[in-house]
Amino acid sequence: MSDTLSPLSQIPADLVSVSDYARYAQAHLPPATYAYIAGGGADEISLKRNRTALDRLLIMPRVLRDLTHGGTHLQLLGQSLRHPIFLAPVAFQRLAHPEGELATARACEALETCFITSTLASYSLEQIAACSQGSKWFQLYVQENQDFTLQLMRRAEAAGYSHLVITVDAPLHGIRNRAQRAGFSLLEGVEAVNLRGRPPLPQASFSPSQSIVFQGMMSEAPTWEQIAWLIQQSSLPVILKGILSPADALQAFAVGAQGVVVSNHGGRTLDCLPAAIDVLPAIRQAVGVDKCLLLDGAIERGTDVFKALALGANAVLVGRPQLYALAVAGALGVAHMLRILREELEVCMSLAGTPTLADITPAALWQAD
Ligand SMILES: Cc1cc2nc3c(=O)[nH]c(=O)nc-3n(C[C@H](O)[C@H](O)[C@H](O)COP(=O)(O)O)c2cc1C
Repeated sequence: MSDTLSPLSQIPADLVSVSDYARYAQAHLPPATYAYIAGGGADEISLKRNRTALDRLLIMPRVLRDLTHGGTHLQLLGQSLRHPIFLAPVAFQRLAHPEGELATARACEALETCFITSTLASYSLEQIAACSQGSKWFQLYVQENQDFTLQLMRRAEAAGYSHLVITVDAPLHGIRNRAQRAGFSLLEGVEAVNLRGRPPLPQASFSPSQSIVFQGMMSEAPTWEQIAWLIQQSSLPVILKGILSPADALQAFAVGAQGVVVSNHGGRTLDCLPAAIDVLPAIRQAVGVDKCLLLDGAIERGTDVFKALALGANAVLVGRPQLYALAVAGALGVAHMLRILREELEVCMSLAGTPTLADITPAALWQAD
């Protein structure tokens, strides 16, 4: 692990793609930490599906078009952005680098993209907000204690976050066997500092006929009613993260969400889920052309971004690669990783003959007859 912003020379010359960062990160991270980051739920079918579903899609290039007016700019939920590649909320970034989320947020500012601070960040949401002038959203895990949840929201508003992302697909942890087998636990000094002072849960006792999952862990899990209420309480536009069903996407907009992140949580929650890209076309069709849809899961190439946009995403989020890049070369690594993705997207758009994001439609993908 490097402990300061690394000079460019610390990025190995043969590190030229986002997946190269994953390879290099293994040498920079303790094996159990790597297993926690890289792993997914149970047999990792959801995790693998994210990759294979993207790989199955192919691009149909159009040649000899005028590209001189091309660019990757977009307007999204009131923001003007340079490109459609954001960093997903990822917890405990000090696992990868001592500067953790501070380094990642600075890299986002340099690459003109949006950083989404996790509720489980290892720096305080205020420290992260103060360390860069870039665009920042806050990701909320709804807490068992409603007042504490509201406190987190108010802190995010006061610290200058512009959007609130409520994650709805992980009311409890997935069964993360890879991390369990590796004996993962948080490294010393790494904790969810934003949850300090959280009121303790009441002591639960169960009768033999009750379930520790349903009557225990899930008894305080949020429902649509609570999400609708939180959206009303928020002065920030709310995006719901972790939706795969068209019916849930419709409900999200019906209760007042401004956007949806189509996601299977990087394959880390329930196993045997479809990839986000598998369900994206049906969700886009259900919600219509104007609604904001983001997508994540295995975005590692400019061509992956392109495929997601072709099937209806307005922008994509990148999860694990930010930790790999952080582990290898701190803020500089994250900025480099983002630049690789942005440039690959530009090359892909050029070679596919789609000068602007609006030109990337389903017709840009190859349909086998
Ligand atoms: C180590 C790790 C921690 C994560 N922490 C959070 C989190 O705190 N909140 C959240 O909504 N999603 C979290 N996610 C999920 C990501 O936001 C995102 O959905 C997922 O990583 C996308 O897949 P990818 O890693 O293949 O890009 C986490 C993912 C990883 C790998």
